[in-house]
Order: sequence, then C-alpha cells, then structure tokens
Amino acid sequence: MTLIDGKSTAAQIKAEIAEEVKEMVANGQRAPHLAAILVGHDGGSETYVANKVKACGECGFKSSLIRFEEDVTEDRLLEEIKRLNEDPEVDGFIVQLPLPRHIDEQKIIRAIDESKDVDGFHPINVGNMSIGLPGFVSATPAGIMELLRRYGVPTKGKHAVVLGRSNIVGKPMATLLMQKSDPGNCTVTVCHSATPNIKEICREADIIVAALGSPGFVTEDMVKPGATVIDVGTTRVADASRKSGWRLRGDVDFENVAEKCDFITPVPGGVGPMTICSLMINTLKARKNNPYK
Ligand code: GUN
Repeated sequence: MTLIDGKSTAAQIKAEIAEEVKEMVANGQRAPHLAAILVGHDGGSETYVANKVKACGECGFKSSLIRFEEDVTEDRLLEEIKRLNEDPEVDGFIVQLPLPRHIDEQKIIRAIDESKDVDGFHPINVGNMSIGLPGFVSATPAGIMELLRRYGVPTKGKHAVVLGRSNIVGKPMATLLMQKSDPGNCTVTVCHSATPNIKEICREADIIVAALGSPGFVTEDMVKPGATVIDVGTTRVADASRKSGWRLRGDVDFENVAEKCDFITPVPGGVGPMTICSLMINTLKARKNNPYK
C-alpha cells in the first residue's frame, strides 16, 4: 500500500511556484495577486480562506481578504465582484462558498470574469473543461488529477467510481477522469443519493473518489483488493481529546480500508492541501494571462 502524501506533494509544488515568482519579481514583474471574498463567519469557510491566504504568502503572492457580514445584499456583492473584475492588479479571485441563502450563488459565479475565475466555477470554464479546452479547472479535482499523475496511479481503461455529484467536486472529477488524457481515460460511474446499489458498484471499482461528506461511508467490504481510494471528505467530528474539541474525518473508514488498497489518501494531509495548491497554480496562470504587467 502506498500512502498518497498530499501534504508533502503540495509543499513541493508551492516551493516550485515560489521559485518561479521570485524570478518574476527579480525581473521587475508584479507578483500574482489573489483576492478572496468571505461572507459571514462559518468556521469551516474561515479556516479554508485563512489557509488560502497563508498559501499565497508561501508562494510569494499578494493576497487580499475582503469580508462581508452575513446580511450583505446580493447587489453589494455583485458591486464588489465588478470592482475586482476591473482591477488590473487583481489576477484572480474567489468567492468562498457556501453563501447565505438570500444570495443566488449561480448569479454570483456568473458575474465573475472568467479570466479571473481561478476556482473554475464559471459556466465558461466548466464548459471548456468538459470539452477539453484550456481554462481554469476546479481546484479539488485538479489536485486529485495531479496526485494521480505524480504517484503514477494507472488510470487508462480503469473503472473509476465517483461518489457524489457536486458542481465543485463530483461532476468535474467524473469529467476529468473520463477525458482522453493521462491521467484519465477511465470508464466512469457516478453514484449519488439516489443510487440504490452503491456498495456493489464500489466493489467493481479500480479507483474510488469519495466526495459525499459522509464520515466513514466507504467501508472495507466496498473496496476491491488493489484499488486506489481518494478521500475528499473533511467533516468535523467531535473529539474530546483535541484542544479544539473536533477533528477532521474523511468519507473513508481509513483504518480498515487502507490495507486493501494499492494507493490511498489520508485525511487530513491528502486531498485538502492539494486543493489549495491547485488554486495557487490557477492564480499563477491567471497572472501570466493578465495583460496588465
Ligand atoms: N467551498 C468549498 N470548497 C470551495 C472552493 O474550492 N472554492 C470556493 N470558493 N468555495 C468553496
């Protein structure tokens, strides 16, 4: 069994990015600039955004955190997005999701200039990805593809089962795995809450990507010996032994599943750090594409 170490892979990629940025700056160019909009004070979103800002520092990027209270209006958010779209010194920006219920998430995403949509959520970027054209790819699936590539996980002709159909992970993951590319070229099955026979389907999988948000969902009896298991779950579960009172738990029963696998990602330290790393890669790309030097 090989443990896929997302933490060290991400650290290595960030060091490569930092080196490139150092050179850009030494040549008199602007460092990449990522802005993040955070609405409200949800604990998970606060942590994610803080980690994104920290990663910008590690890569030598400039970052701006723009905060709004939970009761911000949709119009005010759209106004801020317009400002960021028009600011030549902002190469890319994200609006941390989920947003409060009174705000139309899709309207917000569509308002982002697709050339600054480093989350890859805009319909134009989603469309480009689905037909294999260049653009920004959603960070979590992009990070998983990078892990599969760097660890040499065989994918061609393999049966990949994606658990979950979210716009951020499940759908783009299935699209990338089926793409005529390396990694890629998989036969893909997507399972979701209305799939009656998930256990049976998982048992046929060479690769399982679990992105349901259901702690410990994938159990030992669902995994074929020699499979690759990628765990996207990051649910906070109570843990009295921790100072915080909680710990992160993945969608996979790691303790019992790991020994059956050829490759497996841990939680934490697997997919999570790679997600942020992909956002940094996208921001560097946005900087290079930005005509404002
Ligand atoms: N919420 C959960 N994951 C993400 C992400 O990758 N980007 C944004 N903007 N919000 C998220």
